[in-house]
Amino acid sequence: MPKVSTGELFEKALGGGYAVGAFNVNNMEIIQAIVEAAEEEKAPLILQISKGARQYARHEYLMKLIEAALETADLPIAVHLDHGDSFELCKDCIDGGFTSVMIDGSHLPFDENIALVKKVVDYAHPRGVPVEAELGRLAGIEEHVSVSERDAVFTNPDQAKEFIERTGCDSLAVAIGTSHGAYKFKGEAKLDFERLEEIQEKLPGFPLVLHGASSVLPEFVKECNKYGGELPGAQGVPEEMISRAAAMNVCKVNIDTDLRLAMTATIRKVFAQKPDEFDPRKYLGPAREAIKNMVKHKLHILGVAGKLG
Ligand code: G3H
Ligand code: 13P
Ligand code: ZN
Repeated sequence: MPKVSTGELFEKALGGGYAVGAFNVNNMEIIQAIVEAAEEEKAPLILQISKGARQYARHEYLMKLIEAALETADLPIAVHLDHGDSFELCKDCIDGGFTSVMIDGSHLPFDENIALVKKVVDYAHPRGVPVEAELGRLAGIEEHVSVSERDAVFTNPDQAKEFIERTGCDSLAVAIGTSHGAYKFKGEAKLDFERLEEIQEKLPGFPLVLHGASSVLPEFVKECNKYGGELPGAQGVPEEMISRAAAMNVCKVNIDTDLRLAMTATIRKVFAQKPDEFDPRKYLGPAREAIKNMVKHKLHILGVAGKLG
């Protein structure tokens, strides 16, 4: 099956009340695990590649691995640049066969973010590539933080409307309380659903994206810690909140940390049981299986399982 753009996946997701999973890939085992999971669960898929992943595995290798997946799996797959940080990087990825890019100018002042996104949109659109942008900053917010402090960090719904009109971007990553990595909330996990409602009222029918959506499941944290780790438990986004967002206009949900934890917990377990193991297949194989199981589980949380065709 040929690669698809995120645009066609989002159209169906909006109508269907589910979100497409966007999973980060860095090597062959991770790609195989995600693609097999999506194929078995009959779910459309976004494979996303960060700047760091592209530097680690190299563009050509990742694209060939994804081509192999497309040859063997009967699945619509979009290939997306995660957190592009410059026009040049987005251009390289578009020229190199990505079907979707994110330009992340969320750290820039409003007008500068707009100018950068617009520059990428002007290059991407004539080439049929949709662009994701981000407004607001993904930061863990502690419970006692005031409303005005929250407003300064989270996505402002009025600004969001102006932002998409002025940039022409195709989807928008919003800041409503999630953050990247394994340490998301100090106190109770909380997402600003009122703000999300308001954003989707201001942007009817417009695809929204949720970054930092890993749930940091306690059993994997516990497994990592069993062998000498010190990861704190249960700091992720509760999965019922992810399902709730996926039923709204959130069409793309980014998950990386949960896959990393599943992979790492499994590899650590193998070495704990067999400290003298040195055949990479003996630890990367079980790790691939663990990622696959995690992805299958997430596809159900997102409501995208069974949505192929
Ligand atoms: O949001 C970032 C993703 O988890 C990718 O992380 O930049 O370490 O590849 P990375
Ligand atoms: P997590 O760190 O919560 O998995 O988020 C991943 C992400 O947003 C990638 O862009
Ligand atoms: Zn992200």
